[in-house]
Amino acid sequence: MPHSNPPRTYRVKSFGCQMNVYDGERMAEMLAEQGITAAPEGEEADLVVLNTCHIREKAAEKVYSDIGRLVKAGRKVGKDPMIAVAGCVAQAEGEEIMKRAPAVSMVVGPQAYHRLPAMIARAANGERATDTDMPEDAKFAALPARRKVGPSAFLTVQEGCDKFCTYCVVPYTRGAEISRPYSDLLREAEALVEAGAREITLLGQNVNAWRGENARGHAVGLGELIKELDKLPKLQRIRYTTSHPNDMDEGLIAAHGEVQKLMPYLHLPVQSGSDRVLKAMNRSHTVDSYLKLLERFRAVRPDIALSGDFIVGFPGETEAEFAETLQVVDAVRYASAFSFMYSPRPGTPAASMDGQIAREVMEERLQRLQASLGRDQHAFNQASTGKTCDVLIERKGRRPGQWLGKSPWLQSVFFEGAEADAMQIGDMVHARLGEAGPASLKGQVLSSQA
Ligand code: SAH
Ligand code: SF4
Ligand code: F3S
Repeated sequence: MPHSNPPRTYRVKSFGCQMNVYDGERMAEMLAEQGITAAPEGEEADLVVLNTCHIREKAAEKVYSDIGRLVKAGRKVGKDPMIAVAGCVAQAEGEEIMKRAPAVSMVVGPQAYHRLPAMIARAANGERATDTDMPEDAKFAALPARRKVGPSAFLTVQEGCDKFCTYCVVPYTRGAEISRPYSDLLREAEALVEAGAREITLLGQNVNAWRGENARGHAVGLGELIKELDKLPKLQRIRYTTSHPNDMDEGLIAAHGEVQKLMPYLHLPVQSGSDRVLKAMNRSHTVDSYLKLLERFRAVRPDIALSGDFIVGFPGETEAEFAETLQVVDAVRYASAFSFMYSPRPGTPAASMDGQIAREVMEERLQRLQASLGRDQHAFNQASTGKTCDVLIERKGRRPGQWLGKSPWLQSVFFEGAEADAMQIGDMVHARLGEAGPASLKGQVLSSQA
């Protein structure tokens, strides 16, 4: 659709993983640098960026219905929004989107979004453009410096995936594994801290595959990067996600015993408790090697909270194999976890495998798995009752006067009443954990440090 005016306001809507959230923030910063301002809440924006996720089914359909909704909402107020589709659906189905959705002006992949300003200028002249290149020239170098951020900030250190799990689209949508340079990361971390971050979560599709070279020219891994970030005086917490079992090294495990600021939390997806299924998934780890790895973390950090991802109903998964997944859950006792029904993704090897599982079977397995995971999460929270710890206040709660923060173990902790009245976003409060619910705990302030 032709646009004769450059946009004055923008809105970025991010779906999917935390890396997409990070990309969405960087796009917003870039648009702001162009003089485009964030559209006020409840107002239609001149430019809308749909930063999409392709990981499970209906992703593309959702994008088309979002586009339809935007056009309709625009029409109501006499506006014709400029629409950009970014993210993993853009990468996977860019041409198709351009054909099917004439309202879309731009399609831009996750490795090319630094070129968005030029595309907007062209769109303002009525041109439509697709850019799903994976350019060698680093996107990050072309992005503006970090601006104001919340107390808990994301920092992408690694992108892409070379693992090719047979069910997964990420290696196709995000490209090969790359690590951002050490010095760039230190610089961005410093900027984030100066902009108000007290916690930084290092991100990567395989974050522990990050490799770099330190100032002295030595090859270093994520553990060493974390130790360097530990030296930033105003930074209080460090986290990282998502790790792959095969990329874990001694340096990172050891960091959990040595670095106070590194939070006692590990998200390490296993996907299935059956070695046969893991092999068919091309996970290249076994249940046993995974469990042994967790033991090494527990040895250096006994209170570590464990988290994982699970897929039920992978092609050919038998009831007995699913039962093995439940056994792993019983053995590990996760503090939290994400679980999904297998979703055949176009172009992935698993989509054409024999033995696709009926939806009812998947639903029933997912329910049983989630019952176990929910039980363990609640138990983990209950075992925390009575503990004292720091809580980083991140946002207001649902009820008036309520504040929500995160414990070191990534539990949601809420405060209310008089002690909450004086709270602000970014406070680090020392608290006693009280009554535990399935997904949160009540906190009681012992002391506060702004
Ligand atoms: N790189 C990370 C996470 C990738 S996506 C890792 O390997 O752990 C996040 C989660 O989505 C995966 O861990 C997996 O559990 C789930 N997932 C990925 N592809 C899927 C598919 N086709 N169907 C269902 N779940 C899927
Ligand atoms: Fe997907 Fe596997 Fe890569 Fe994770 S490791 S992003 S699940 S291919
Ligand atoms: Fe989704 Fe792409 Fe992230 S497919 S999960 S947005 S890497």
